[in-house]
Amino acid sequence: MTRLTTCADPATVAERATMHVAAVIERARAERGVAHVGLSGGTSPGLTYELMSRNPEHLTATELWFADERCVEPDDQESNYRLARDTGLAGGAIADGMVHRMRGELGPGPGAEDYASLLSERLGGSGPPVLDIVILGIGPDGHVASLFPGSPSLQAGEDSICLGIEDSPKPPPQRITLSLAVLRAARSCLLLATGAGKADAVDAMLGDPSPHVPASLLRRERLTVIVDDAAAPGPPAR
Ligand code: 6PG
Repeated sequence: MTRLTTCADPATVAERATMHVAAVIERARAERGVAHVGLSGGTSPGLTYELMSRNPEHLTATELWFADERCVEPDDQESNYRLARDTGLAGGAIADGMVHRMRGELGPGPGAEDYASLLSERLGGSGPPVLDIVILGIGPDGHVASLFPGSPSLQAGEDSICLGIEDSPKPPPQRITLSLAVLRAARSCLLLATGAGKADAVDAMLGDPSPHVPASLLRRERLTVIVDDAAAPGPPAR
């Protein structure tokens, strides 16, 4: 069952999210000695990264991964790695050696292959690489990471790890993304949504699974959703 928490405003969403991530990291560290955390881009997750980075003591033995990246240089304004850096997480609260950057500058295909090898090498086993938590935003169209509605990327097989995207409807068009299989293999996903513009997408995410709403394809029983009042789903249909 998906856990849904509604908060008054984006700042409270970020506070609740930071506490949730800290608890997941603590449990992963206790059970396996290390925590593997995947980050998305966007303004919603960015607020949480800023708060996370203010408590480095909650981030020991934590390795940072990325759910997606734009095919730009790492210091480009559009880079999700740069977002993690500018919010104090990558290279600040978490040392560079524990940060696994998606090399967007390689381009979609080679970049996806490169990251799939890195994930397999570090986290591979018999099945897909398993992250402890993937922090996701959601687009107004219900996309997560760089998995967009109706995209062939959603049909990638269970053995897919990373995919190159050439035609993202959200600029920039060229991206690298974790596959749906890897998002579904994660021990948990945390999805953050704020603002009235996301309410319909959150509603659709909680509805019937559909390739037209990629967020609806996440593993419901491993999904925690934290929204503000403006993005909260409507009342259940009577
Ligand atoms: C990206 C993100 C993307 C983002 C959502 C929400 O690289 O664009 O990974 O999935 O999280 O589009 O973004 P906002 O919070 O800015 O609306």
